[in-house]
Amino acid sequence: MILFDVYPLNDITIVNGQGSYIWDDAGNKYLDFYGGHAVISIGHTHPHYVKRIKEQLDKIGFYSNSIKIPLQQQLANKLGEMSGKEDYQLFLCNSGAEANENAMKLASFHTGRKKIVAFSKAFHGRTSLAVAATDNLQIVAPVNETENVKFLPFNDEVALQNYFAIHAKEIAAVIVEGIQGVGGINVATPGFLQTIRALCDEHNAVYIADSVQCGYGRSGKFFSHDYAAVNADIYTMAKGMGNGFPVGGIIIAPHIKPAYGMLGTTFGGNHLACAAALAVLEVMEDEALLANALSVGNYLQEQLKGIAQLKNVRGRGLMIGFDVPDEYKNLRKNLLWKYRIFTGEAKPDVIRLLPALNIQYKEADMLIDAISNALANYS
Ligand SMILES: Cc1ncc(COP(=O)(O)O)c(C=O)c1O
Repeated sequence: MILFDVYPLNDITIVNGQGSYIWDDAGNKYLDFYGGHAVISIGHTHPHYVKRIKEQLDKIGFYSNSIKIPLQQQLANKLGEMSGKEDYQLFLCNSGAEANENAMKLASFHTGRKKIVAFSKAFHGRTSLAVAATDNLQIVAPVNETENVKFLPFNDEVALQNYFAIHAKEIAAVIVEGIQGVGGINVATPGFLQTIRALCDEHNAVYIADSVQCGYGRSGKFFSHDYAAVNADIYTMAKGMGNGFPVGGIIIAPHIKPAYGMLGTTFGGNHLACAAALAVLEVMEDEALLANALSVGNYLQEQLKGIAQLKNVRGRGLMIGFDVPDEYKNLRKNLLWKYRIFTGEAKPDVIRLLPALNIQYKEADMLIDAISNALANYS
């Protein structure tokens, strides 16, 4: 049997990881500013994380949601405490797409309405409604096409107000990333998020904060939506939540009430996933990783802004993007193959930085030196 060939691969086989470094099967060491697509939050093979998962595996790895799993409540308590959303309710699932799918479905159950408002350049995942709310026709299969999703321009308060003025009674939810990731690191303005909050309040629609990539401390605040001082009705999360263990979730404001059977999943919230997610939060707290994300992130942005060839450096915390002019278009490849540094991309010309939240100034300097060096060699 061969693998279904859907991923364009780098010819590299990673076999080990520690902190912000990974090693390939030939013993080459790489600096990881990509975090396996914003997933590695507390660093590779963090000792506390490894220990907690191993200990849990020795007890029990999985049982279904037909019995009590106290680890789920422990996770809910810790998440409530660290995010400041103590009165929210937690539903656990397995991925970012599943989190968004459940959030939109729940909004529809809650309001009895069908329309979802999403925005230009949004990415919400590849399952049916999540992909329908993703602004990329190439990944929407005919069966996923729906008239229930309306795309409006990102950060355009007037367009949103105008749409609500006509369709308010049909709108179940507005779904928005606090910082668009796949779309190229586009930061939602506080005014835009506040407008979403106000319109959803006025018309009883549900504000869904897709925090799958920009959440969980990556921006330097627990949720990037916190920068706008608004509370969403549902926050979706995944990526950094399990530091590589597949776990996702949604937290739901108290006014949205559950009913048996409304949502469900076989694997979501299993013992091992909860142990992984708890370990992540414990490390984030013990090592003050939100503060680190903010300070190292700010430093990185300052340094990047000092490199004349890079344009439009932007982002928050350790979610940073910049445009690479056409004449330097191989920069990302050069960083990987010549300097052994992994970075992310957003097509056509954006480099995305999504390192672990405990990356240090030393590693930031290594990246800056490598970029400066690589750019100097173009002339
Ligand atoms: C903002 C956002 N939402 C949802 C998803 C989908 O997550 P997953 O790939 O875990 O389904 C992603 C993945 O990149 C994302 O960036």
